[in-house]
Amino acid sequence: MPLITFEGVDGCGKSTQILMLKDYFDKKNLKCSVFREPGGTVIGEKIREILLDSQNSKMDPKTEFLLFAASRAQLVYEKIKPALESGEFVILDRYIDSSVAYQGFGRGLGKKVVIFINEFATQLVYPDVTFYLEIDEKTFEMRRKEKRDRIELENIDFIKMVMQGYSEISSSKRFVKIDARSDQNQIFRAIIKEIERRFNL
Ligand code: TYD
Repeated sequence: MPLITFEGVDGCGKSTQILMLKDYFDKKNLKCSVFREPGGTVIGEKIREILLDSQNSKMDPKTEFLLFAASRAQLVYEKIKPALESGEFVILDRYIDSSVAYQGFGRGLGKKVVIFINEFATQLVYPDVTFYLEIDEKTFEMRRKEKRDRIELENIDFIKMVMQGYSEISSSKRFVKIDARSDQNQIFRAIIKEIERRFNL
């Protein structure tokens, strides 16, 4: 069954849209699981703690990248593959594209190695559709939280590179780019329109 992923920088409103979409599937009696990255499994949540702990300021970008990939490998193996095989819709709050944007572009590791390792980690399980909720720098600054994890503590230049990464990859057919500065109901309508069209609902 379909794998649907959500991408975007912090504050783009992914979580709200995911809750609304889950509710939409529930009302239609369609089975649906939601997982978040990094995390989503017991092992993955432990990896998440290491990754987001602001005390871990010495982390090498390669370590960071491999930990995200490790958490993702576990999630695919333990949750995503079985759920897809049992015929459920699966919604993911971040997936491979987060690593391409944040580690590949933001940290400068490059797209090639990120995709190569991720294809290994995910056993080539690719999303059927990816919603990229796009906001601009100004909106990002406005919505920025007071309490920040290790990655959110990065400066605006880092986020600009992440945005650049998302903008480059989001031109491929798998992506639906949505202007996430608008009202959340309007965004949701755009998402549902695509879901209904792509999956004949
Ligand atoms: P997340 O829990 O999604 O934070 P939020 O709910 O605020 O969006 O992700 C935590 C941070 O990890 C977020 O700043 C993005 C970053 N991240 C990466 O850098 N690479 C990745 O592969 C993933 C999945 C997340």
